[in-house]
Amino acid sequence: MGKVGFGLAVGCAVASCAIAATLVSRRVKSRRKWNRVVGVLRELEEGCSTSIGRLRQVVDAMAVEMHAGLASEGGSKLKMLLTFVDNLPDGNEKGTYYALDLGGTNFRVLRVQLGGKESRIIGHEVERQPIPQHLMTSTSEDLFDFIASAVKEFVVREGDNSGLQLDRRRELGCTFSFPMKQLSVSSGLLIKWTKGFAIKDMVGKDVAECLQQALAKGGLDMRVATLVNDSVGALALGHYDDEDTVAAVIIGTGSNACYVERTDAIIKCQGLLTNSGGMVVNMEWGNFWSSHLPRTSYDMDLDAESPNPNDMGFEKMISGMYLGDIVRRVILRMAQELDVFGDVASKLSEPFILRTPLIAAMHEDESPDLVEVSRILKDTLGINDIPLKVRKLIVRVCDVVTRRAARLAAAGIVGILKKIGRDGSGGVASGRSKSVGESLSKIRRTVVVIEGGLYSNYEMFREYLDEAVAEILGEEVAQHVVLKVIEDGSGIGAALLAAAASHPSTSVAHDNVT
Ligand code: BGC
Repeated sequence: MGKVGFGLAVGCAVASCAIAATLVSRRVKSRRKWNRVVGVLRELEEGCSTSIGRLRQVVDAMAVEMHAGLASEGGSKLKMLLTFVDNLPDGNEKGTYYALDLGGTNFRVLRVQLGGKESRIIGHEVERQPIPQHLMTSTSEDLFDFIASAVKEFVVREGDNSGLQLDRRRELGCTFSFPMKQLSVSSGLLIKWTKGFAIKDMVGKDVAECLQQALAKGGLDMRVATLVNDSVGALALGHYDDEDTVAAVIIGTGSNACYVERTDAIIKCQGLLTNSGGMVVNMEWGNFWSSHLPRTSYDMDLDAESPNPNDMGFEKMISGMYLGDIVRRVILRMAQELDVFGDVASKLSEPFILRTPLIAAMHEDESPDLVEVSRILKDTLGINDIPLKVRKLIVRVCDVVTRRAARLAAAGIVGILKKIGRDGSGGVASGRSKSVGESLSKIRRTVVVIEGGLYSNYEMFREYLDEAVAEILGEEVAQHVVLKVIEDGSGIGAALLAAAASHPSTSVAHDNVT
């Protein structure tokens, strides 16, 4: 080999070494980045841990806070609001009743025909309408005028099919899914807005009065017979279908629960008397808080940037309005570590762009290549060509956030069962210690109805929740507890309650409370 040939060979060797070194260094760098992304996931998993021990602490905290909220006004973050519903529908209701269900981005108008014990619900018609975005932050008059005109159109369209004489006054059950200080079963003052609504002049006003005025202005002879929270409507339908129903939980855009309480346990309202000895209490559990809740930096940022910081902490960890945004925040953090996501300042930085139904779709993508995940990342976030291993990581994030939400909601449900002595432990109310055998033999069939898209449409969420309830209660007790999905409960239930309020029977609610 001549000198030139030797020089070339050395040159090539040096160049190959340099290329190899660059490749190795790139690989090392990308492995480091990947490790950092995996670190983000690990940290999330740790932060969202819902071990059985922690869930039990949440159960206890829920039961204790329920006591505190019942003991005094402002005694707990759980408001434990009186509803004045002491007369749950029992099947004897007869006639045609209307309902209005206002609580989220849509509202519904219903007509329900009740045939009494024999025929039960003969039929019901529902009409859904979106609430125009601008009305969610406008004035109370604008909102109720709009709603009243929709109700009027619904009534006008019914023609002669309503079974009602045209000159007869119609009875309306109204569901209003925001915290209210009830003055009676048919009136209540709005305490605050949640779920993105913000009509300032409405806070402190009587919701039924606003609606009644708007209906009258629209020339409709309709009486607001009842005003209830959506959870109370759901409980009414649940109890109508199955008398063992003791509580109702809403897990949709927002979250809440109500249950039947003994009036003598509502200490903040001394001397409260009802025919049945019981009353439905609207817990407003979205505002529940406990140091045992597994909270991450993503939750804190979401809360701080929300229109209602330090408020509705439980709802922000478990409900449909927020889960998508928690996942978005985690992906954004990962995108800051790994450059495969492209320009991170893009759509991924937009709050609430990733809605919870999309999380469900990604989570439940069973295709080997996760095509649905690719599609959603592309269509919603404008992120293309994400490697499969990153798509798998995103599915894992959806899983962690959803599992935590479902398990915490499960702990909340068991907290209620504990408070009313249906968890097999003898209840915190009794204060007496019972032997396990004695407690178990006394457990009665207990039904909790659950309404809301997060539970009814998101299978993985439902499975995690059901599984966690059984895990906390233990197999033997869990056999006595039935979790039942209901649909349109808040609307149909409001019509049932309007019927029950118009013709009260002796139906008692308190026999559900041990
Ligand atoms: C409201 C509750 C309601 C729940 C479910 C929450 O944001 O405060 O009153 O029941 O959402 O709709």
